[in-house]
Amino acid sequence: MWDRLKAHHAATRDRAILDLFSADPGRAAEFAVEACGMRLDWSKTNIDATARDLLLDLAEAAGVGARREAMFSGARINETEGRAVLHTALRNLDGSVIVDGADVMPAVRETLARMESFAEDVRRGRFAGAGGAFTDVVNIGIGGSDLGPAMACAALAPYADGPRCHFVSNVDPAHVSDVLAPLDPDRTLVLVASKTFTTVETMANAGAARDWMARVVADPATQFAAISSATEKAAAFGIPADRVFGFADWVGGRYSLWGPIGLSLMLAIGPERFRAFLSGAAEMDAHFRAAPFGANMPVILALAGIWHAQVAGLCSRAVLPYDQRLARLPAYLQQLEMESNGKRVAMDGGDLPVESGPIVWGEPGTNGQHAFYQLLHQGTRVVPCEFLIARHGHEPQLARQHRMLIANCLAQSEALMRGRGLDEARALMAARGLSGAELERQARHRVFPGNRPSLTLTYDRLTPGVLGRIIALYEHRVFVEGVILGINSFDQWGVELGKELALTLEPMLEGTADPAGKDGSTRALLAWLKG
Ligand code: F6P
Repeated sequence: MWDRLKAHHAATRDRAILDLFSADPGRAAEFAVEACGMRLDWSKTNIDATARDLLLDLAEAAGVGARREAMFSGARINETEGRAVLHTALRNLDGSVIVDGADVMPAVRETLARMESFAEDVRRGRFAGAGGAFTDVVNIGIGGSDLGPAMACAALAPYADGPRCHFVSNVDPAHVSDVLAPLDPDRTLVLVASKTFTTVETMANAGAARDWMARVVADPATQFAAISSATEKAAAFGIPADRVFGFADWVGGRYSLWGPIGLSLMLAIGPERFRAFLSGAAEMDAHFRAAPFGANMPVILALAGIWHAQVAGLCSRAVLPYDQRLARLPAYLQQLEMESNGKRVAMDGGDLPVESGPIVWGEPGTNGQHAFYQLLHQGTRVVPCEFLIARHGHEPQLARQHRMLIANCLAQSEALMRGRGLDEARALMAARGLSGAELERQARHRVFPGNRPSLTLTYDRLTPGVLGRIIALYEHRVFVEGVILGINSFDQWGVELGKELALTLEPMLEGTADPAGKDGSTRALLAWLKG
């Protein structure tokens, strides 16, 4: 199947995407998929009907359908860790899901109810700090215990009517210091968010926050809550069980926003809107589970990704939200996609026959336009782009600016595809009064090769429900890509080696261990940094 796809790509790679539209007037509708009130346009790619059919066959042959059912029904599809993968159970709250003969849903519902009552107590000032109702919440966590809630809190700022939420993740002391500096210790609630409650960055920052609070608050633990599967470790830190919100091992860190890791979001927007967020994701789950592959948004998004990364060999993917409040979406997707699918060993232990998942990066439009779009348009590398844009913003009084935003978003995907040929560039220069050698010289710099692929996801407005749908869409996209690649998208062994080595280096920096066993470069860096 890969061979047929690669052969088809080789045979069609030089054709103009624009010509696909003249050849098929129905292309824009045919290569668009609508679901859950959103629309994904994948027509500005070099994927034609043959490529699409081959990609759909690839998904069938990879067993995406069976694997999808295995995930939703609680099978242990995370094989290297022997775990089920059930983040979907955190947002599909009715019914039952059986793991090891027991229904996991009563516990899910009970934890959600506990979170809601805690959130209401905090938001209404019934549970308060030493100095009064909490004005600020600091979530201390990293990776999946940070990126999801941080991204979502920024995304849903127009709905935030609770305490202000802040996020500390980096072990760099600058992070915790800068975040805490402007806050009142006696009106700040600290959430220690760590699935394992052992992550060194989080534990160091939690200790720093406790010390900061202890200067003002007699018993800082009274203003701490924990989000963790390790209740006994949280208790050892001094946080009583009624303020520990746990989740099962079948929720992966980067898929955990839907449960207790989303507590900061719930505190910010309130339990009702948090439920709307969950419902939006559940709608996308239902669509993913039922729609035929050809009309299935996560499947199509995944197949376009596979075409670009593994078939065409384009190694990066730009995520470009024309939605300022999704500024942290690219960072969130970096973990979701790269920690999930950045792997070179297949589930069966063999080497991957194709490239692993791509490098994901991006910035909100229009900022990126004034920074790196130069390379997107005229660099030697082709980067498939994924645009996101809402029909409406939250600022009706600034409707013209939203129109400008939409115009810019559409202009970029059009320019990437259309480009500008040499003749057009010459005409442009001639219109500016140039001629002869100078015209030729200037014209060449104004050529845009075009034929650069992009996808555009459109939605009505970035509400809690829409955000839930968007995130679930990407989660399932990552899942489908992982199944097609034949890898386990739910482990992350690649983060371990660096963590282990950091533990050996710290005593060398302290001077309590001998760096003799280290390589020359590391020894020299250690010596320099020790000063
Ligand atoms: O280092 C990788 C990782 O395990 C991520 O997968 C996870 O999201 C993050 O660390 C944080 O883990 P924890 O929630 O256990 O502190």
